[in-house]
Amino acid sequence: MASSASSFRLLVALLCVISSASAAASNGDGLVAGRGPIGTNGKNYTKVCDPARFASLGLDMSTFRYCDSSLPYAARVRDLVGRLTLQEKVDNLGDHGKGAARVGLQPYMWWGEALHGVSDTGPKGTWFGDVVPGATSFPLVLNSAASFNETLWRAVGQVVSTEVRAMYNLGHAELTYWSPNINVVRDPRWGRASETPGEDPLLVARYAVNFVRGMQDIIIHGNNSSDHDRDPFARRIKVSSCCKHFTAYDVDKWFDADRLTFDARVTERDLAETFNFPFEACIREGDASCVMCSYNRVNGVPACADHRLLTKTVRQQWQLHGYIVSDCDSVRVMVRDAKWLNLTGAEAAAAAMKAGLDLDCGMFWEGAQDFFTSYGVEAVKQGKLAEADVDEALGNNYLTLMRLGFFDGAPEFEGLGVGDVCSGEHKELAADAARQGMVLLKNDNGRLPLPLLDNNNNNNKVVRSVALVGLLQHINATDVMLGDYRGRPCSVVTPYDGIRKMVSATHLHPCDSGACAAPGAMDTVDATIVIAGLNMSVERESNDREDLLLPWNQTGWITAVAAASPDPIVLVIMSAGGVDVSFAQDNPKVGAIVWAGYPGEEGGTAIADVLFGKHNPGGRLPLTWFKNDYISKIPMTSMALRPDAEHGYPGRTYKFYSGPDVLYPFGHGLSYTTFTYNSTTTAASATLKIADQDHCKQLTYKPGVQSPPCPAVDVAAHTCDEAVRFTLTVSNTGGAGGDHVVALYTAPPPEVDEAPIKHLVAFRRVFVPAGTTVDVAFDLNVCKAFGIVERTAYTVVPAGTSTVLVGDGATSLSFPVKVDLAVS
Ligand SMILES: *[C@@H]1O[C@H](CO)[C@@H](O)[C@H](O)[C@H]1NC(C)=O
Ligand SMILES: *[C@@H]1O[C@H](CO)[C@@H](O)[C@H](O)[C@H]1NC(C)=O
Ligand SMILES: *[C@@H]1O[C@H](CO)[C@@H](O)[C@H](O)[C@H]1NC(C)=O
Ligand SMILES: *[C@@H]1O[C@H](CO)[C@@H](O)[C@H](O)[C@H]1NC(C)=O
Ligand SMILES: *[C@@H]1O[C@H](CO)[C@@H](O)[C@H](O)[C@H]1NC(C)=O
Ligand SMILES: *[C@@H]1O[C@H](CO)[C@@H](O)[C@H](O)[C@H]1NC(C)=O
Ligand SMILES: *[C@@H]1O[C@H](CO)[C@@H](O)[C@H](O)[C@H]1NC(C)=O
Ligand SMILES: *[C@@H]1O[C@H](CO)[C@@H](O)[C@H](O)[C@H]1NC(C)=O
Ligand SMILES: *[C@@H]1O[C@H](CO)[C@@H](O)[C@H](O)[C@H]1NC(C)=O
Repeated sequence: MASSASSFRLLVALLCVISSASAAASNGDGLVAGRGPIGTNGKNYTKVCDPARFASLGLDMSTFRYCDSSLPYAARVRDLVGRLTLQEKVDNLGDHGKGAARVGLQPYMWWGEALHGVSDTGPKGTWFGDVVPGATSFPLVLNSAASFNETLWRAVGQVVSTEVRAMYNLGHAELTYWSPNINVVRDPRWGRASETPGEDPLLVARYAVNFVRGMQDIIIHGNNSSDHDRDPFARRIKVSSCCKHFTAYDVDKWFDADRLTFDARVTERDLAETFNFPFEACIREGDASCVMCSYNRVNGVPACADHRLLTKTVRQQWQLHGYIVSDCDSVRVMVRDAKWLNLTGAEAAAAAMKAGLDLDCGMFWEGAQDFFTSYGVEAVKQGKLAEADVDEALGNNYLTLMRLGFFDGAPEFEGLGVGDVCSGEHKELAADAARQGMVLLKNDNGRLPLPLLDNNNNNNKVVRSVALVGLLQHINATDVMLGDYRGRPCSVVTPYDGIRKMVSATHLHPCDSGACAAPGAMDTVDATIVIAGLNMSVERESNDREDLLLPWNQTGWITAVAAASPDPIVLVIMSAGGVDVSFAQDNPKVGAIVWAGYPGEEGGTAIADVLFGKHNPGGRLPLTWFKNDYISKIPMTSMALRPDAEHGYPGRTYKFYSGPDVLYPFGHGLSYTTFTYNSTTTAASATLKIADQDHCKQLTYKPGVQSPPCPAVDVAAHTCDEAVRFTLTVSNTGGAGGDHVVALYTAPPPEVDEAPIKHLVAFRRVFVPAGTTVDVAFDLNVCKAFGIVERTAYTVVPAGTSTVLVGDGATSLSFPVKVDLAVS
């Protein structure tokens, strides 16, 4: 005992020396990759509790109880926090955790971004350089969402987390990433649509669950070991993923409305049905280890200081096993921008932490530190905050780092290195994701695919030369395709590069705002391809759109090029949000339109593969493309989803909008082949046995409808094990194999008032070879598929006849499902 006590004193003394050295090194870019105080032999250690760290001093990290791996994580975290002084604790409540060298704790930089690939956005916790010059840049999230392929989203999460782990081993990354962004795109003008999976809460939720599982679950050679440990607070994770931005956040900067001061006035019903829905799934089903609260206020209270949202809902009701972080500067924003209740810095820090915020991200690079670190000690000294609140917040943060192996290492990943970043396999997944997300919006008379080989059955002439027309930023896109929260790509295949590989001659006709170079030359080529669209000056974080039109006079010259071209042109649109291209849809000289989104580093490969038929497009729009008139009918700041008769506002998204301004509906997407459905199911029914009349809820009926004794059952009070099963067949009746997305919607009984027109409840992407038929089976949980959110914000299953709708337009099926509620 005596010798270990004296060696402990020696360790304390030495660590103090290391501490001041590392503090000196942490100015500017010194905190390289968070490999903070290192062992005295100069070697870098990837785990805090590495026994070798101070071995040359005759010291052993295992003298610290928090390094005793035989103890539960919770006990170890308690030990660690208990060793820290108040100042040391507070120094670790911000995104630049300073560590505490005195007790062997390294600094840690929490801020990481990996929205569509490992990114170096933010301070330099994750960075590129000679050793790791880039990481795989996947399509923007909205493109990936368009694939409607859950396996793909999981695979992307897995590749991103593998690249993170490899970079971590190389000192180029940390382990906590503030992705995905799962706010629903309520309004077509939102500047951040590219970052999200679109307008449907279920689609967004499924993306969230799959991406988070891909990021966090430990999968080795197909073995999923993530749930082997029964205590969810002690489940090890690969990389920490974060559901953001909680909640009702989807106004960035729209005229005078600014996210920093915006107060989102929302109903409980819209929160449950739309805004919070993906977050609940992300936490409960995805088991995300982090939630980020948003800048805006929700009904008057800043989201990051709302105890009901953070503690009652996220932590208690949804059972978060991780930490809650602020959007960067949210706490400062309460004081500086929103001037909420005229709070002081210490009061705002106290209010946020007491509400349940665990970690404060601050804009360190602007020279200031976060508010928790700045005001934490003062808040405790003034009695506004209990030290126990600080301990609880720190505990949540360090528990997450324990789960990540920050203290003990993660042997499964220690072999990953340079060869696991930007590998051929990863780049191929980026190309595959881009292909799967391409959406064919228009294809008159089979204008696409452009035929490469003679084919006597095809009226189109073989394409050997093309004119490629557009702004250079689109036809030679090295930048636009990478969108926001980019990292550095492994390499970029531009549309020009991709197309050039397909044909013997590609003539570039760059345009500016006035016209295009040499439009007359178009009659000498076999086909004219125009690439047009938007860029991040039009739609990005902190910048919402003012209209839905193509900017920079593109409409004018596209129309001129179409008129000059002997054959109908092919138009490719790069954008996230929908663009009103009615002029092109209505113009017979525009033969085909493809939405390419912002397709990431392999975008050019995917565009060329689709245009020349190497890939049959199967993507579907993850949001409605509205005509520009829509936006004059409702201000962006009106948050309600349902139509508002009092103000004459139309509803929002395909679930509630029934007006004339839809150019392409949610789920729209054509193929080079034709599919038909058939099903032996013509009707279905289910009986829900209700033990107690008290579990019946009222329902809002249309005027004049007689309410039955038990109109609806409260889903929260029901076991919900009833299911409806049915199978349908998808036949490919055309000449090309292709992927087909089966989208399944339900519509509530027609007598229910204020209900969605229909809503997505399941979807499946399947490959169907030409001339064949595949079976697709659905097991619909009655509560999930037929539940609706009532005016009271309860989720209920209504009695009566709902409708199942499969697909839309010409290829569609529908049948009634009668739900009886039997009160015993
Ligand atoms: C430790 O990491 C730092 C920063 O990444 C690097 O500069 C240094 O060379 C590394 N030392 C060893 C011994 O690997
Ligand atoms: C791993 O297993 C858990 C528990 O069965 C499951 O929920 C999760 O989806 C799996 N993860 C992946 C990436 O397949
Ligand atoms: C899963 O792990 C077990 C034991 O570690 C191993 O024997 C098995 O081969 C693994 N399965 C696969 C598919 O790699
Ligand atoms: C904040 O302070 C200003 C100026 O003293 C005062 O006018 C305002 O009423 C205060 N607001 C609140 C919410 O207390
Ligand atoms: C396309 O972009 C590449 C990379 O920026 C550049 O080298 C090339 O000159 C560009 N091509 C044209 C036609 O501008
Ligand atoms: C659009 O073109 C017109 C005429 O060619 C020109 O006067 C105008 O400046 C252009 N607008 C923009 C935004 O470039
Ligand atoms: C977007 O395109 C416009 C018009 O060419 C250009 O002025 C602007 O700099 C571009 N913005 C970005 C972020 O590339
Ligand atoms: C659908 O199935 C029914 C019953 O099996 C059959 O009679 C009908 O011809 C099928 N329709 C199509 C379009 O395949
Ligand atoms: C879904 O994505 C996975 C992973 O990229 C891919 O292997 C699979 O073929 C895709 N499914 C369909 C039907 O396209």
